[in-house]
Amino acid sequence: MAYHSVIVGCGSYLPARVVENQELAAKVDTSDEWIIERTGIRRRHIAAEGETTCDLAYAAASAALQNAGVKPEAIDLIVLATATPDHTFPATATQVQARLGLTHGAAFDVHAVCSGFIYALAVADNFLKAGQAKTALVIGAETFSRILDWKDRSTCVLFGDGAGAVLLERQDGAPDVRSQGVISTHLHSDGRYKDHLFVDGGPSSTQSTGYLRMAGKEVFKHAVTNLAGVVNEALSANNISAAEVDWVVPHQANQRILDATARKLQLDPGRVISTVANHANTSAASVPLALATAVGDGRIQRGQLLILEAMGGGFTWGAGLVRW
Ligand code: COA
Repeated sequence: MAYHSVIVGCGSYLPARVVENQELAAKVDTSDEWIIERTGIRRRHIAAEGETTCDLAYAAASAALQNAGVKPEAIDLIVLATATPDHTFPATATQVQARLGLTHGAAFDVHAVCSGFIYALAVADNFLKAGQAKTALVIGAETFSRILDWKDRSTCVLFGDGAGAVLLERQDGAPDVRSQGVISTHLHSDGRYKDHLFVDGGPSSTQSTGYLRMAGKEVFKHAVTNLAGVVNEALSANNISAAEVDWVVPHQANQRILDATARKLQLDPGRVISTVANHANTSAASVPLALATAVGDGRIQRGQLLILEAMGGGFTWGAGLVRW
């Protein structure tokens, strides 16, 4: 029996506290103008003291379940993408599972930093296609504020906290570009570029959490090339042109990356969902946050063709073609 998966609901959560650019300009040598001009970012949400990735993930998951009209008991797979788990172990996914009151099925984390949601979606989609699960909760959740060096102006202005989630249901029949569902996913990684974007700590190396370090210009160049490449790969794998895509739902790292990628793909920038101004780069949470925003405000409609894409530390990058 062939199967495919359908996204039946989505949801998101942002912590209550909003930090505007001006507030950062009072702490490090930066300005609202510089941040907006170089990144498009205006504000970010920061988790409250004691509020963890699991809390954010649970809130987004609950919103997605409500949006889908599905009871938690239906879930038999939870895949959670994060680079900022509550603990080294157990996986944050298992804590979300417990919070949802579930003791059946499987829950685990995937770690692909800013590409994490695309990786998690691909994993869950493949589990459903293989017949190994029926209803999957896919979450991207991060508290990057905890791994930022708040004295480093070149990184601390770029990131925020948040979470987004989708609910996938298995349906009969192979994926088809004309029918609702996840049509294909495409994943890549290249470990040679670790030093361009990494955290300088970890349990096995320094026994500390560490801080995010980044060579911004290098990341920028690779991001545009890799993202345009993987979007083209997804289009040609399905024999469709960029003109047939209704919405691009990209990882929200920087407005200039969104614009440059759209230019390279000759895509109308009006069809690229952008939410980076309001929540900065939330890593694995950014694609489902953008998706939930555009579904919520009515831009994304059932039946439309979406391309989801992201790039992150590793490097990792990927794309998913979805008929909403
Ligand atoms: N405020 C003011 N000035 C800043 C600053 C800030 N927050 N951060 C850096 N600068 C300064 C630099 O020190 C540098 O000063 P100098 O010329 O005196 O040395 C100058 O601005 C230019 O820095 P540069 O790094 O060349 O700027 P840029 O145009 O490349 O923009 C980024 C910097 C980080 C915004 C940009 O490289 C970027 O967005 N890269 C991708 C990052 C990303 O999205 N990563 C996550 C991917 S998942």
